[in-house]
Amino acid sequence: MEYANILVEVQGKVGLIRLNRPKALNALNDELMDELGIALQKFDADEAIGCIVLTGSEKAFAAGADIGAMAGYSYMDAYKGDYITRNWEQIRRIRKPVIAAVAGYALGGGCELAMMCDFIIAADSAKFGQPEIKLGTIPGAGGTQRLPRAVSKAKAMDLCLTARMMDAAEAERAGLVSRIVAADKLIDEAIAAATVIAGMSLPIVMMVKESINRAYESTLAEGVQFERRLFHSTFGTEDQKEGMRAFIEKRPPNFANK
Ligand code: CAA
Repeated sequence: MEYANILVEVQGKVGLIRLNRPKALNALNDELMDELGIALQKFDADEAIGCIVLTGSEKAFAAGADIGAMAGYSYMDAYKGDYITRNWEQIRRIRKPVIAAVAGYALGGGCELAMMCDFIIAADSAKFGQPEIKLGTIPGAGGTQRLPRAVSKAKAMDLCLTARMMDAAEAERAGLVSRIVAADKLIDEAIAAATVIAGMSLPIVMMVKESINRAYESTLAEGVQFERRLFHSTFGTEDQKEGMRAFIEKRPPNFANK
């Protein structure tokens, strides 16, 4: 399929999606989010893909939802069109891991999109923020919910209320990003991390993702119980047999993804 707002390629077992509206700093409009949803679903369904990387450009991962496109919305346009929920939530339904590789601006919806991914690798040039308050609105794609869970209430309040940007070092200290790499190495490092993941057993990878995500949706006791059930179920897979046999035989595992 031809996309107008994203670029899609495959590197080994990794699906790479680049947001591609350079003139608008990858501002996220309806068309782009529809295309992103389709590309993500295709990689999720593709047996040859084990992990997905989502990135932007050197200057911007994404500078937010498209302000020009939404500026004239009425309440009814936003409500009846189910703005943000309709096609932004797709990423949450992807069962393979999605890594956000962020360089430059990740603001507003751009920061929220990065937070919807499973983890964020940041270039040293990355800048994160939720500046919606300056536009007379609030974050609409989970910013007030995911940011406090990632960086604490104090820092989330600070960022959302003052609209200031946070650099990569502060974002790493705060726990928003998992690692910082040199900007010119961002894609290589993200692909390398994704390749490691894609070399694991896919069903087990999916269980890890599902179980960690459950930590956000449940009490500790429920989450631990959920994890234990999944842990027990891994013993029904061929890959658990192969993984443990390979360790005992002192050789790398050869997972069948079953
Ligand atoms: N929507 C639409 N267009 C955008 C945009 C956005 N979010 N961000 C940048 N652009 C456009 C600019 O309008 C400009 O277009 P023109 O060349 O046609 O004028 C182009 O991208 C380049 O931008 P700048 O000239 O402003 O570049 P800069 O380097 O001077 O500044 C910036 C970069 C600080 C990121 C600045 O562009 C900016 O502040 N952007 C808006 C950030 C923002 O407020 N994001 C939140 C959006 S609301 C939202 O996301 C709601 C939600 O929760 C879902």
